[in-house]
Amino acid sequence: MTRSMTIALTVNGEAVSAAVPVRRNLVDFLRHDLGLTGSHVGCEHGVCGACTVTVDGQTVRGCLMLAVQANGSTVTTVEGLSDQALARTLQAAFTRRNALQCGFCTPGMLASALSYIASGGAADRRAIREHLSGNYCRCTGYQSIVDAICDTIEESRA
Ligand code: FES
Ligand code: FES
Repeated sequence: MTRSMTIALTVNGEAVSAAVPVRRNLVDFLRHDLGLTGSHVGCEHGVCGACTVTVDGQTVRGCLMLAVQANGSTVTTVEGLSDQALARTLQAAFTRRNALQCGFCTPGMLASALSYIASGGAADRRAIREHLSGNYCRCTGYQSIVDAICDTIEESRA
């Protein structure tokens, strides 16, 4: 028998309450229970970063956190980013710089990039690459992603 627990949290600004199996991970809960399929699932063991979301302002791997551990938290997925001016600027820069091709990595890449920018990270290509080292992209070669992040930092601090 699978044990369930009722959790209450805020997802993209909306209060959510749901009964979830205690072993369901956060990204599966977001995708399958809430229909928020913007967060992707790649490796399922914390390596690729495709499932990265924000929980109480910190980026987490949605495949490594249980949904029940997010009880009482505030979660933001890629679907909630358009509410944030900085995120809109970053998304526009990704488009302008062609920083995505298939887009599979993009939701996690945006979450990690936003955490870097919001923490005061510099437009330093080496530091940005280091920060993104836990987010894999199989298409772009990273150059254009770093360009987009540098653009966003320069625009937001101009
Ligand atoms: Fe979570 Fe790869 S699916 S890190
Ligand atoms: Fe395809 Fe990054 S754009 S994996």
